[in-house]
Amino acid sequence: MAGDFLTWHSHSVDQEQHARQKGQRPCLIWLTGLSGSGKSTIANALELELLKADRHSYLLDGDNVRMGLNKDLGFSDADRVENIRRIAEVSRLMVDAGLIVISAFISPFNAERRLAKSLFPEGQFFEVHVNAPLAVCETRDPKGLYKKVRAGEIRQFTGVDSPYEIPDSPDLVLNTAEHDVQGCVDQLLAFLIAQGVLP
Ligand code: PPS
Repeated sequence: MAGDFLTWHSHSVDQEQHARQKGQRPCLIWLTGLSGSGKSTIANALELELLKADRHSYLLDGDNVRMGLNKDLGFSDADRVENIRRIAEVSRLMVDAGLIVISAFISPFNAERRLAKSLFPEGQFFEVHVNAPLAVCETRDPKGLYKKVRAGEIRQFTGVDSPYEIPDSPDLVLNTAEHDVQGCVDQLLAFLIAQGVLP
């Protein structure tokens, strides 16, 4: 394997120096949940709050990453695994650059979420389950995808004929069927303050 002949280079400017320059505590906020559970909505609302707080953040979102970096990947289990592996690595680079990264992907498997977490030291990776029952997600159907699934036009759809493993030990659960967007974002902000990411 090519990896046998590679050497890890320590850089002269490290993560702590990048973070100090930005005046913030970098971390990765990993949102996982079904299609239509509210990941992107919450991620965007959170990013606006971070902007207000003068934090430098970056949002990585499913559809956008799949239209670029991961355009070679589909929705088989193996492709989803590779999708999440790449996103976790990209997120690590961004956290290294001193950013507060929000990643919003279905990320259906516990193993890959654990793998993502394993790339970060304690207290730098936060797994947030954006939770809503499948029936609620299907009623919302913001992109009309569930309708297409039920019409047989889309296969391997998460929660229908492709699995979603409920996170076994998330740092936070946001129940989007019970709380509105602002309510969920407030819970996230309180969590980030408690973690020392926000003052
Ligand atoms: S995964 O499972 O983490 O690799 O998926 P992700 O990269 O987050 O991409 C999910 C978005 O892709 C669209 N889409 C599908 N989702 C699930 N299953 C199938 N078969 C599928 N086909 C297309 C859909 O817009 C998802 O976005 P969200 O925001 O979750 O609705």
